[in-house]
Amino acid sequence: PVSGAQWAAEVRALAEERNAVILAHNYQLPEIQDVAHHVGDSLYLSRIAATAPESTIVFCGVHFMAETAKILSPEKTVLIPDAAAGCSLADSLTADQLRAWKAENPGAVVVSYVNTTAEVKAETDICCTSSNAVDVVASIPADTPVLFGPDQFLGAHVRRVLQRDNIQVWGGECHVHAGINGAQLAATAEADPEADLYIHPECGCATSALYLATAGAVAPERIKILSTGDMVTAAKQSTSRSVLVATEIGMIHQLRRAAPGIDFRPVNDRASCSYMKMITPEKVLRSLRELRDEVVVDPQIAARARGAVERMIAIGN
Ligand code: 13P
Ligand code: SF4
Repeated sequence: PVSGAQWAAEVRALAEERNAVILAHNYQLPEIQDVAHHVGDSLYLSRIAATAPESTIVFCGVHFMAETAKILSPEKTVLIPDAAAGCSLADSLTADQLRAWKAENPGAVVVSYVNTTAEVKAETDICCTSSNAVDVVASIPADTPVLFGPDQFLGAHVRRVLQRDNIQVWGGECHVHAGINGAQLAATAEADPEADLYIHPECGCATSALYLATAGAVAPERIKILSTGDMVTAAKQSTSRSVLVATEIGMIHQLRRAAPGIDFRPVNDRASCSYMKMITPEKVLRSLRELRDEVVVDPQIAARARGAVERMIAIGN
């Protein structure tokens, strides 16, 4: 089996030889997070991809993330250890569907989650991630209608925070986050009444958590709706003894690293993204040895998508 100290040393040595920077999303396997030069959420990794001095990026994440890196840095070689690592949420809105939606809503500003294909980004005014979705929509004049896609739960979160009803939301969802349900959340929250709840806004159960708070079942200050990067920031500042985490289970590794004194537990321990887990230690090594799989974005599509992605990395913390 490929892993362990020898594997890590070989990966780092090859990265240096190739002038490559290794980026890993918070949902990657622990050993891949540990070998990467940078680990974080999709906004943080996009910003690193835009500014990294290395000539090659090895993106340990899913395909839309590597595509976003290529759009931001077209002169760099962008590799993903397995190009088949997709995203069910990105698949839920096609460029044709977005064009039709825009045609029905002339004058609306299109905000697309970064979990979309390059073709969808090319039809978009501003992209966002879960950590800056609220700031991105808030940057659009309050009387301008907004089309927000593809994630219905992130869209509902933005509408709720901004109390703005001129945001139309596409009906897509991430199967991993949609699978963390309100009943599981209520049961784990009731079993540990002291624990904070960190909930990713792609979860349908974010709404359930707010109902629980309204019903008095959970103290409202325990509920924190956060992107994966913001979960790490919150953990570092937290004085809680335990935290229940509603997102993909890879997140737990980075949280434990950030705050070893806190007991982090997943709300659903089967919430694993099979696309993220297609990136294995073997494939990371193969990627650096054989310079594969190279991510290619049609230059015309990339040119049309770049403005939306650049606006995304300029907004929010
Ligand atoms: P963030 O990296 O913005 O937290 O998003 C999570 C996600 O689902 C990426 O696929
Ligand atoms: Fe896509 Fe969901 Fe996997 Fe994230 S966790 S990559 S949104 S399928």
